[in-house]
Amino acid sequence: MTRTALIQGGSGGIGRALSAVIRASGEFDQLIVTARDPATVGSDDPNTHAVALDLTSDTSIEEAAASVRQLTDRLHLVITTAGLLKDDALEIRPEKKLTDLNRASLMQVFDVNCFGPFLWYKALYPCLRHREALTIATLSARVSSIGDNRLGGWHSYRASKTAQNMLTQNLSLELRRTNPQAIVVGLHPGTVDTDLSKPFQSGVSPDKLFSPEQSAQYLWSVLSALTVERSGQVIDWNDQTIMP
Ligand SMILES: NC(=O)c1ccc[n+]([C@@H]2O[C@H](COP(=O)([O-])OP(=O)(O)OC[C@H]3O[C@@H](n4cnc5c(N)ncnc54)[C@H](OP(=O)(O)O)[C@@H]3O)[C@@H](O)[C@H]2O)c1
Repeated sequence: MTRTALIQGGSGGIGRALSAVIRASGEFDQLIVTARDPATVGSDDPNTHAVALDLTSDTSIEEAAASVRQLTDRLHLVITTAGLLKDDALEIRPEKKLTDLNRASLMQVFDVNCFGPFLWYKALYPCLRHREALTIATLSARVSSIGDNRLGGWHSYRASKTAQNMLTQNLSLELRRTNPQAIVVGLHPGTVDTDLSKPFQSGVSPDKLFSPEQSAQYLWSVLSALTVERSGQVIDWNDQTIMP
């Protein structure tokens, strides 16, 4: 049986580090890595395949899913790392208060963080509806927790990740009906030194700021120990369940 892993977002800090950890694990016969610009995936491993994917485009999602289907008819590990918090070109920045809300920013942030990942899973469904071991992990964030939110702010980022968590639980319940081995989770990587967090690192103590490689190792430990009982949860880098 050929085992295939698929990572979305291979040019990002955590996506790139996770790709390396998964390759090094030797657990998969092939690794498919997507990026908006597949040239950025940069691996000369013959068992790594780069595929172009922009999660905000239905055409791109369809074309990328067709490329995946040419490589395999079943996926065993699917990780989606897309995240949007701030984008100067698109004039998106984390909102501090109600009056900062803006429809275009809300739509874009929800598109990348929530709609895109699950429309991607829909397009991949022909490769997900098998009965073998399957783990689907979407990068979430601790700030998605409603119960843990005592600071406010970051409205669109927080809310898009909270909505993402609900779709995680829904997919978990749906796949469980046909595949008792299916596990669907959200993952919080910790605070990680990447482009996404760079503008917001000033208050973070150095021991709480992980390198992408550190975070990827922690996440791989979590993924390797997952059991079906935890499907539907959001789990942090330290294997603790984050309250909804
Ligand atoms: N860094 C942290 O401290 C931290 C904390 C909590 C949660 N997270 C979450 O961890 C995940 C990875 O973030 P990171 O820190 O590695 O950030 P990053 O280096 O900025 O990477 C962001 C990723 O988002 C992807 N992306 C953005 N727009 C996209 C689009 N339209 N279509 C497809 N992909 C798109 C990029 O994909 P391409 O490779 O295709 O460009 C890139 O891989 C995110 O979900 C983030 O919310 C990070």
